[in-house]
This record gives sequence, C-alpha cells and structure tokens, in this order.
Amino acid sequence: MFNLESFDIKLNTEFVGRNFVYSDEIDSTNSFLLNKENKFNTDGTVILAEKQNKGHGRKDRVWYSSKGQNLTFSILLTSKKIYSKKFNHINFAASLSVAMAIENLFQLKTELKWPNDILINGKKIAGILLESISKGSKIDRLIIGIGINVNQAVFQGVFNIPPTSLKIELNENIDREKLLAEFLNTFEEMLEKVKTNPEEILKDWKSRCRLIGEKIVIEGGEKTKYGIFDDLDDDGFLLLNVGGKIEKIHFGEVSVA
Ligand code: BTN
Repeated sequence: MFNLESFDIKLNTEFVGRNFVYSDEIDSTNSFLLNKENKFNTDGTVILAEKQNKGHGRKDRVWYSSKGQNLTFSILLTSKKIYSKKFNHINFAASLSVAMAIENLFQLKTELKWPNDILINGKKIAGILLESISKGSKIDRLIIGIGINVNQAVFQGVFNIPPTSLKIELNENIDREKLLAEFLNTFEEMLEKVKTNPEEILKDWKSRCRLIGEKIVIEGGEKTKYGIFDDLDDDGFLLLNVGGKIEKIHFGEVSVA
C-alpha cells in the first residue's frame, strides 16, 4: 500500500501534489480530474490510483498496470496555470521530469521518444497523456496523466512498444513514495521553466532524444511519412526532412525507418 506519510515528508512543492487524492480503484485518474463535477478544482491536485479499470493511453490504447505495483496518477492544471499555447512544453516538462527523477534516484539512462514516451534500453518505462477541456477558445482544465512502471515484473497485454519496469531493470523493489515525490518536485520546477525559459525545456528534451538526425517513419496521420528527424520547432512540433523539404508534424507514432 502507498504510504502517504512517507510521500508527504519527501514532497517539497508549493502547489503540485499539495492537494492529494488517493484512490484504491477508479476508472481512470485522467477521466476523474477532467470531470468538473468531482469538485477538485485546485491547481496542482494529484490523484493516484492503485488500480484503473479504464486506464488509457494515446490513441485509446489500454494502459495496463497491475494493482498496487506502479504509479498511475494525474495532475490538474486550470487556466490560471496554463501558459498559452505551451501544451507541448508541458508535455515535455512531464517526460523530462520522469526521466530526471529516474536518473537521479537510480542512475539509469533514459531516452525520450517524441511526443511523450520514456524508454530504458528501448523499452517503455512510462507514458504521458495530456487531456483537456475547453471553454470557448480557452483551455479550462488540462490533465497530465502519467503511468510509470515501477514494481511490476510481468506484463500481459498488447503493446506498441515492449514495456519494462524499474524492478525489471534494477532487480529490486522500488520505493514508490520516493519516486512520486521526486517526480512532482522536479515537475513543479519544470513548470516554472515552461513560463520563464521554454527554450531550455526543448534543449533538455532534445538532449535525451536519440532519434534526432536519424531516418524515421511517422505513422498514424493521414499517410505514413518517411524522412530524417531534423529538429523540433519552437512550439515542440517535429520537423521532418523529406527529400530536402522540411515538413511540420503535429502528431503520429515515430519509429526508426
Ligand atoms: C501513453 O503512453 O499512451 C500514455 C499512457 C498514460 C497512462 C496514464 S495512467 C494515469 C492516467 N490515467 C489514464 O487513464 N491514463 C493516464
């Protein structure tokens, strides 16, 4: 069971995770926070669930996570804390914070895959799903949903990238409370950077992305595209060099060509 006291001692944030909801079982932590009716409207609210019955990822994929072994949680940001048109940066801030928390606590090398996967040795250790609700042209609630594979030793399901966990990589049980606190502490700092120094977020993200400069294939859009991963633009979109012409890619699944 998740030890709230030991988590709380390690949490250093001002607002992220200060309002903390712990759930034994829920459909999806993202869906819960997206729904305004739940009355949790404080910026930085975090809900952690031991089990999700409808945990989902990008492209409506199922997010498989055994009860009580991993970290499946979501963070709420309301319009006060959402800096205009910086969704990709917030997404990267979250991936970077997962990578940095893992590197700092366990000295494991992580790799980031556009737009929001975190890998260790080519296998997926964590995924991030941003979902939002708009009011008119403005985003009212932004939910950052994160699944980190921590103590699960065996995975069953259908995966686009083979999964791994910290337990598999390190051969030991991991303190989930310490990892969640480290992540939230880092993420709050990163959120500040999204406002004050967004270029640095992109630079740090790119330094952990192995595919920049490589031949890649992008699937999932109208048509499959092949080219060289040239760079990210200032908004975090992927720039693909297709026969010398640069195309901006807004979404899709990237893999080595
Ligand atoms: C992906 O890799 O496609 C994103 C996976 C995101 C999974 C997390 S688990 C907590 C939160 N609640 C959900 O239903 N999904 C996210």
